[in-house]
Amino acid sequence: MLMANDVTDLRAAAVAVLKMNDRGSYTQPAHGLYPHQWLWDSCFIAIGMRQLDVERAKQELISLLRGQWHNGMMPNIIFRQEPEYRTDRNLWRSWLSPYAPDDITTSGITQPPMLAEAVVQVGQKLAKPERRRWYRQMYPALVTYHQWLYKERDPHGEGLVLQITPWETGLDNTPPWMAELHEHKLPFWIRSIETLRLQWIISLFRRDTKSIPMNERFSAIESAAMFDVQLRLRRKAYDIGKILDHALFTIEDLNFNCIFIRANTHLRAIAKTINEELPDDLTKRMKKTEKALEQLWDLTSGQYYSRDFITHRLLKTPSLATLLPLYAGCVSQERAGELVKMLEHEQQFGCAYPVPSVPPSSFWFHAKGYWQGPSWVNTNWLIIDGLKRYGFKDHAAALTETTLEMVAKSGCAEYFDPLTGEAAGADNFSWTAALTLDLLENN
Ligand code: GLC
Repeated sequence: MLMANDVTDLRAAAVAVLKMNDRGSYTQPAHGLYPHQWLWDSCFIAIGMRQLDVERAKQELISLLRGQWHNGMMPNIIFRQEPEYRTDRNLWRSWLSPYAPDDITTSGITQPPMLAEAVVQVGQKLAKPERRRWYRQMYPALVTYHQWLYKERDPHGEGLVLQITPWETGLDNTPPWMAELHEHKLPFWIRSIETLRLQWIISLFRRDTKSIPMNERFSAIESAAMFDVQLRLRRKAYDIGKILDHALFTIEDLNFNCIFIRANTHLRAIAKTINEELPDDLTKRMKKTEKALEQLWDLTSGQYYSRDFITHRLLKTPSLATLLPLYAGCVSQERAGELVKMLEHEQQFGCAYPVPSVPPSSFWFHAKGYWQGPSWVNTNWLIIDGLKRYGFKDHAAALTETTLEMVAKSGCAEYFDPLTGEAAGADNFSWTAALTLDLLENN
């Protein structure tokens, strides 16, 4: 139970982190490890920032539009332009694509489409005429982004959109993707490193493990594989035709699609508020996505999973994504009830500091292992939002409480050990701070 003093301290600590990471028009996720602007980070940051300064929250989202590609894609990273970040920019070389923006360097992939949610959350803090103006300002970019997602990522018009690298899911080393990687997709050179036990060579080239303990990040083999995926995408200049021709990964990710469904709902509401008619084709495809989500439900295990785009095989490795249909909001009340049971169950997601990114009973579970066990404040925020909309008010309040306790106990860490609440990953992490402010306000 948080006391009034704790609340004051927590708020002050969160405000300080946001201030520390503020780069004028946007906020870096964390000093050192994440110096650039990230797509879904800025969305979560704006959601919290609206509680402090709505104009700054708007700016956070407007600054994301700098990175939008001419084909509508919103990149997951917009790089800083200073000379010392040349290596980061060079890794991606967005300039190889004719669609990349001319005056700024970005990555060549996207991230969960949280933008419409953030636009609406910020809009709620504005008076009606101003809100309409705000929606009008963001609407064209949102429409082209969602159209791009359908055009490039649902090429057969089946309803679900596919992702081409684990980074696009936002849950980087999440087990369903890593299981695919280990089972089928390790390139020859990485298999050789594994067989010859030369992982230490990879570590020499990594930056993340210079500041964060090795066991809290991708394994050496996984990180080499991610690098390999990135090089392949770059070689194809991020041309989806060429990528799909011979891709290492094409997965319809559950987390991504749930966020997309909610974003579509928001986009329809935005259009309605400003009397705009969404293109017919877009509306039809949105409906199809909602229906298609049910294809990801596995009756035998009673869980949702991500799916292989080509074979339609469900990737039956448990992760917290199974709870995200609560956030999507399009599943039945009865199904929502089944998901809530998983949240309560100790062997599933009901540990001391929920919601673990992987259930503790899983073979993959590692309490501090990045997206393979720890609890994250952003996914908690999504689940809380879904619980409220399905009427599980007590569950939402309880999860808000444990989330805030975890931050009060360990600071604005990137992620938390779900068994002890201890901090892991980077310190002073922006979305933890921002969403703490938001949860405090809506508590
Ligand atoms: C990590 C997270 C990703 C986030 C990025 C920047 O890569 O997995 O979701 O966007 O850091 O904070």
